[in-house]
Amino acid sequence: MAKSTLLPFLCTVFFLLMAMPSIDATASSSSSFSTIKGSYYTPWTPDFTPSDIDTTLFTHIFYAFLSPSNITFKFELSETTAVALSNFTSTLRFASSPVKTLLSIGGSGDVPTALLAEIASCPSSRKVFINSSMEVARKFAFDGLDLDWEWPKNRKEMKDLAHLLREWRLEIIKEARATKQPPLLLTAAVYFAADFFLDPVYRMYPVAAIRKNLDWINAMCYDYHGAWDPSATGAQAAFFDPKSNLSSIHGLKSWLQAGLPAKQVVMGLPLYGRTWELKDPNVTEIGAPAVKAGPGDGVLPYSDVQVFNRNYSATVVYDAETVSTYSFAGTSWVSYDDVASAMVKIGLAQALGLRGYFFWVLGYETDWQISSQASRAWILND
Ligand SMILES: *[C@@H]1O[C@H](CO)[C@@H](O)[C@H](O)[C@H]1NC(C)=O
Ligand SMILES: *[C@@H]1O[C@H](CO)[C@@H](O)[C@H](O)[C@H]1NC(C)=O
Ligand SMILES: *[C@@H]1O[C@H](CO)[C@@H](O)[C@H](O)[C@H]1NC(C)=O
Ligand SMILES: *[C@@H]1O[C@H](CO)[C@@H](O)[C@H](O)[C@H]1NC(C)=O
Ligand SMILES: *[C@@H]1O[C@H](CO)[C@@H](O)[C@H](O)[C@H]1NC(C)=O
Ligand SMILES: *[C@@H]1O[C@H](CO)[C@@H](O)[C@H](O)[C@H]1NC(C)=O
Repeated sequence: MAKSTLLPFLCTVFFLLMAMPSIDATASSSSSFSTIKGSYYTPWTPDFTPSDIDTTLFTHIFYAFLSPSNITFKFELSETTAVALSNFTSTLRFASSPVKTLLSIGGSGDVPTALLAEIASCPSSRKVFINSSMEVARKFAFDGLDLDWEWPKNRKEMKDLAHLLREWRLEIIKEARATKQPPLLLTAAVYFAADFFLDPVYRMYPVAAIRKNLDWINAMCYDYHGAWDPSATGAQAAFFDPKSNLSSIHGLKSWLQAGLPAKQVVMGLPLYGRTWELKDPNVTEIGAPAVKAGPGDGVLPYSDVQVFNRNYSATVVYDAETVSTYSFAGTSWVSYDDVASAMVKIGLAQALGLRGYFFWVLGYETDWQISSQASRAWILND
């Protein structure tokens, strides 16, 4: 298509014509530091609709995900999506215990990742995208927008991300002034650490731009180990790890050390397990030799972990060293968070002074035990 050759040209012209604003706006709504108890919602989870959400347990729910058109860079919503969005926001705003809603843009996978990189690379596409995201947020009465770009893959894309966040915040402030509404929230789901220290292409997030322009980040403190490394089991969301820096404490501290205030950091908790098949059913500890992905092709929603544990009378072990739980039966082995490990992590997050926590994802927990204990635990110690 002509698109790929035309865009860089348009982009250059745009640069020559525009004097880009270079001032940083301040994230005006981060002046209030109320605790965030968040969770993502996915419309594709079977048998789970917005009215199934127990809103008493949360402060913010993220609708995951929406992507703009890869041609116009605007959000072009089908009738089905429009109905889903208005059902989501109206159900949650008018619930007896209302929660705030954010529209999450992007998601994992090569398609949204490449599209966000393309949009962020150019002032004209950033402008169109920002405008359209805000139009959609206001049209469907969301309280904010969340960027889930997994991940900017080099230093250039990290710079583009900084431009995107600055320009987005400026537009949000302008729009709020013009319409006399509270400014939209602006957040991002990010890697567990401030830098990609394990990647051959080292790069660091633009922490100064994040500090000035986002209300907070959702740090994805999970997926440290999984069936992409089938040779050994691992604590998929270890808070501590004596052997490596693949741990939440390393990631969260890297954000704080890079200059992001703790009140702009929200810790992610997984409501799912990662699974392996053990090489030897008698060697079951964390790091035990394994051969391939286990039940659920490597991933089990928390409610299925509970079923697995009951089905096979699995042995359940809480590992204090990593603050994680694992269970096994025969050669099947699962790393996950249960109430015990999640509660210790909540305490540690509070000790670090963080703003709150979020879960991936609603619908993976059917009995609300982790969500309700987490909600209670944070209030008790706040
Ligand atoms: C845009 O998205 C459509 C539908 O997802 C896809 O078929 C098409 O190949 C994409 N085009 C480009 C230029 O990426
Ligand atoms: C949203 O959808 C659910 C399930 O489809 C339905 O029961 C509910 O009435 C809808 N709510 C609104 C506010 O449209
Ligand atoms: C989007 O752009 C249009 C056209 O310039 C403008 O009228 C509208 O106010 C913008 N919307 C937002 C939310 O900034
Ligand atoms: C972990 O990171 C720290 C710096 O934050 C470094 O000093 C240490 O060597 C790293 N440890 C491992 C096992 O890579
Ligand atoms: C595991 O241990 C039990 C009891 O010690 C033993 O009977 C069994 O043969 C062992 N299994 C394997 C695969 O080594
Ligand atoms: C539990 O057992 C049922 C019935 O045997 C089976 O269909 C299901 O796949 C099992 N689920 C898990 C998660 O082990």
